[in-house]
Amino acid sequence: MSLKGRDFIDLYNFERQDLRTILNTAHDLKNKLKGGKPHELLKGKSLAMIFMKASTRTRVSFEVGMTQLGGHALYLEQGGMQLARGETIADTARVLSRYCDAIMARVFAHSDIIELAKYASVPVINGLTDSSHPCQIMADLMTIEEHKGKLEGLKIAYVGDSNNVSNSIMEGCTILGMNVTIGSPKGYTPNKEITKRAMDLSQNHRTILQIVNNPIDAVKNADVIYTDTFFSMGQERTKEKETALMPFQVNSRLVEGAKKDVIVMHCLPAHRDEEITGEILDGAHSVVFDQAENRLHAQKAILALTI
Ligand code: CP
Ligand code: NVA
Repeated sequence: MSLKGRDFIDLYNFERQDLRTILNTAHDLKNKLKGGKPHELLKGKSLAMIFMKASTRTRVSFEVGMTQLGGHALYLEQGGMQLARGETIADTARVLSRYCDAIMARVFAHSDIIELAKYASVPVINGLTDSSHPCQIMADLMTIEEHKGKLEGLKIAYVGDSNNVSNSIMEGCTILGMNVTIGSPKGYTPNKEITKRAMDLSQNHRTILQIVNNPIDAVKNADVIYTDTFFSMGQERTKEKETALMPFQVNSRLVEGAKKDVIVMHCLPAHRDEEITGEILDGAHSVVFDQAENRLHAQKAILALTI
């Protein structure tokens, strides 16, 4: 099925072939950029970018991506929009659709992006919600493929707080044939409904999806170790949560428990010596800045294919 005109909200909405098309396009666009080959696929097109939360990578990579594709991006901070004074998401979606060719939004409640997509007549792209971060995972899959040469059959171990990033890992990695283990302490494991959906996906794609409460068990035989902040945007910082998550820190002892050639990933921003040690983040296994770069290429593919 063509991706033209489709929203990009959650990875479970897509077939393996769709995600494969995005990844192939992303690799191709990266090669074109590096080779100085023109790829102005979105000449004259505009992307509205609504931000209800902070961002460095998402904002810059989408904006630069649109420029490289020959188009234009508008940075719209919620506080500067009529949204902040009570204009509805539905009306905002209808109006932006009259000017722009796509809308990217970073919101708190997942229901807000669903609402935006319901009333927009142009594609809506999820730039992170409290429940998912699909663009991040497309960049991550691209990075894994670059470093490992394949995805199918590899084991990814996500350790730490179960959050928007780990939710999208459970979906995207499973659809593309990877085995996924989530290692989180009791009380911080993935949402039941999202886990059930991901378990169904893993059955359909004949992969293994496991949730464990021990970090050492989680990383055993892993090809990829992934972690993210203990406290996502909008969450209260508590001592209780920090204490529960500290044993899941990605440090040299944990990395030694995985395969020798394991790669270590983090969506960034990182909190050195909290969820990951500085030594590992800056060390030989880490591919975190390749991940950050690949946001650009993966999102350009999503934009070019959906617009
Ligand atoms: N990884 C990520 O989405 O980073 P930003 O919050 O800086 O956009
Ligand atoms: N889980 C993090 C990801 C940031 C890119 C958060 O939501 O803050």
